[in-house]
Amino acid sequence: MYLTASEEHILAGEQGYVLQKAMEILAALGDIYGADRLIPVKSTQIAGVSYKTIGDAGLEWISDLSGMARVPSMLNPAGIDRLRWKELGVSEEFAEKQEQIIEAYEKLGIVAECTCTPYSIRDDVAQIGDHLAWSESSAVSYANSVIGARTNREGGPSALASALIGKTPNYGYHLDENRIPSLAISVEGELSGADYGALGYIAGRIAGTRVPIFSLESVLTDDERKALGAAMAASGAVALYYIDGLPPNPPGGEFDIDEHVIIEQCEIEGVYGLHRCDPDIIALGCPHCSAAELAKLHDLLKGKTVTKEFWVCTSRTLRNRYPDLVAGIESSGAKVVCDTCMVVSPACARYDCMMVTSGKALLYVPQMCGTNAVLGRLEDCVRAAVGGG
Ligand code: F3S
Repeated sequence: MYLTASEEHILAGEQGYVLQKAMEILAALGDIYGADRLIPVKSTQIAGVSYKTIGDAGLEWISDLSGMARVPSMLNPAGIDRLRWKELGVSEEFAEKQEQIIEAYEKLGIVAECTCTPYSIRDDVAQIGDHLAWSESSAVSYANSVIGARTNREGGPSALASALIGKTPNYGYHLDENRIPSLAISVEGELSGADYGALGYIAGRIAGTRVPIFSLESVLTDDERKALGAAMAASGAVALYYIDGLPPNPPGGEFDIDEHVIIEQCEIEGVYGLHRCDPDIIALGCPHCSAAELAKLHDLLKGKTVTKEFWVCTSRTLRNRYPDLVAGIESSGAKVVCDTCMVVSPACARYDCMMVTSGKALLYVPQMCGTNAVLGRLEDCVRAAVGGG
């Protein structure tokens, strides 16, 4: 990969050890994937935050770093709600280590907004055509497929290296040639809400690493596109997809499809029937809830009292921005949780069965928490939470 003179100086260690290591990571990735050069990024989103996933080794590594992010940079969800961890059942020792990790990132100029939906709190971090270095798979899918920005699915260290250098190697989804769909998926019947998580759960397995284009009978909201992308990134490795008739469009206009697949309503219904169990916790917000999702839940919970543990995961910014929605939701007994989620928090492992609306959580909760998970529509979740089965 070609490096400019100033990039060569960084690689030679002339701006210090940490930047040298960051440049080594980017140069190695560029060489492996055949990038021609480094390109500037608009923002970074960095995974490897929860103490549950990175442990003491990760904490030590981040604490040893120095430097300052050159572009707006945010964090993936951590293992705790930074204000309510005790109430959620997290140990003091875990919370202490988690705070040390977040503080170490903050010293590097990374904003301690721990969310998988950075696009929902700041418009300026990703716009159409922007190059990014984001880590979290659902955020990557949303950036590529809904916003029309360009990012590979970065690992935590490479996203952090991009934050410190302000650049990323030009390969993969940064290039037009890798943004062409090759798989067409048609879906029979009208879908809404959690149906898109179920669809993504099925479609990701079919697509693998390919770029699918969907032909759908219903018009999706941005939140439904978020849910579809999150599930496909979890059950497959889909980082970019298209919806026929909705922008952004594939580059160049014309493309050849290698395979056509039809997904039927009964297959989507089948996902709701997987791993049936009696929920002792309901957890929404995978990916983190938007303002519209909080508003919908607020209306559904009005006048009701939940009798089971009920988490509503969102970003700290949205939690602070909509105090009336939060107060309304919490008056039911549900908890609006931020900085963390049902997958990366250690607090969910003590439950036996979690009801979720997310195809991604359906896959990850059993793997990461050892808790059974069952998919439900939003109305099913509210009904289960208020004791209606
Ligand atoms: Fe976000 Fe956690 Fe789901 S990071 S996408 S809420 S697994």
